[in-house]
Amino acid sequence: MSGNRFGREYSSSSGDVRVTRKMARWIEAMQEKDLDEQARIEHEGKAYAVFRLDGGVYALDDVCSHEYSRLSEGEIWDDEVYCPKHGSRFCIRTGEVRSFPAFKPVGSYPVKVENGTILIDVEGCDEA
Ligand code: FES
Repeated sequence: MSGNRFGREYSSSSGDVRVTRKMARWIEAMQEKDLDEQARIEHEGKAYAVFRLDGGVYALDDVCSHEYSRLSEGEIWDDEVYCPKHGSRFCIRTGEVRSFPAFKPVGSYPVKVENGTILIDVEGCDEA
């Protein structure tokens, strides 16, 4: 059995492979009515960029994977956010990096909205 940084564990018994994930840990990020196009929230010392896009809400790591810069302060074009420091483009839906100089994705987190509150699963990070 082993884990990786995404919290998945892979184990093998009698020839089959099981994949398990850490338990979801939903945090209350903010009120949906307070989200215009993008926002930055912090929880336990980590920052998240929250975006409203095509009627959905998405959450990424706020810090660019290249150097320190806040994606929550980047410009949005279509489904991409442009890093304000050097201009790398990241997919808002998945965290996929789409242009240099960054070459690694940023973490993407499950989001749901309940009773007007945006919730983020801070254990559900998935990289594109
Ligand atoms: S800090 Fe984001 S592209 Fe360089």
